[in-house]
Amino acid sequence: MEVMNSNIKILSHPIINNNLAIIRDKNSDCEKFKNAVKRITYMLIYEASKELPTINKEIETPLEKTICKVFDDDIQLIIAPILRAGMIFCEVAQELLPFANIHHIGMYRNEQTLEPVWYYDKRKEIKQNKEKVFVIILDPMLATGNSAIDAIKNFTLKGIIEKNITFVSLISSPEGIKKVSNTFKDVKIITSAIDRTINNKGYILPGLGDAGDRIYNTIN
Ligand code: URA
Repeated sequence: MEVMNSNIKILSHPIINNNLAIIRDKNSDCEKFKNAVKRITYMLIYEASKELPTINKEIETPLEKTICKVFDDDIQLIIAPILRAGMIFCEVAQELLPFANIHHIGMYRNEQTLEPVWYYDKRKEIKQNKEKVFVIILDPMLATGNSAIDAIKNFTLKGIIEKNITFVSLISSPEGIKKVSNTFKDVKIITSAIDRTINNKGYILPGLGDAGDRIYNTIN
């Protein structure tokens, strides 16, 4: 794992790299693409959940009592996929963290301004026990950083503590990483690759194309 600063982690692993090659390949069909993303997702969610608080719990094995580390019942974990492409991470995230609340974030990108346009958000303000609320935001592509910043801001305005927010992506651009980490110094970013740049349409180069289109086999 490469660490740029303590809040930005690039997961590098032969399994991840091999699957990144599959999802970058324009000849990988929808099924191949989704299966490769799923394999990477296990590792990204593993990393994103590494610092969730645990407590000691006494468990009785068939042989004797022992103390195990289990998730603290008092925490609230919000998994927030940015629609539509973020949904690709959700099945694995729920499998690994079944107690999480899923909070869908509906936004699309205005093709001219590259700014996000919101269409769905039901999250209420957090008033109590803020230190026990954690958010993992999911979006396969951290490109311009505009959607990421809006999504993070939306959670901080609702009372979530910045250091309890983690942003997870498959591929990021240097521009997006810089923008998000300069705006939110305490937010963690976990990604499996940082690519060369973004083009004037906001696509990551070399990237993988439009993540949503590739997941859902969209005809344009
Ligand atoms: N969203 C995508 O789907 N792909 C990119 O390259 C950038 C944003």
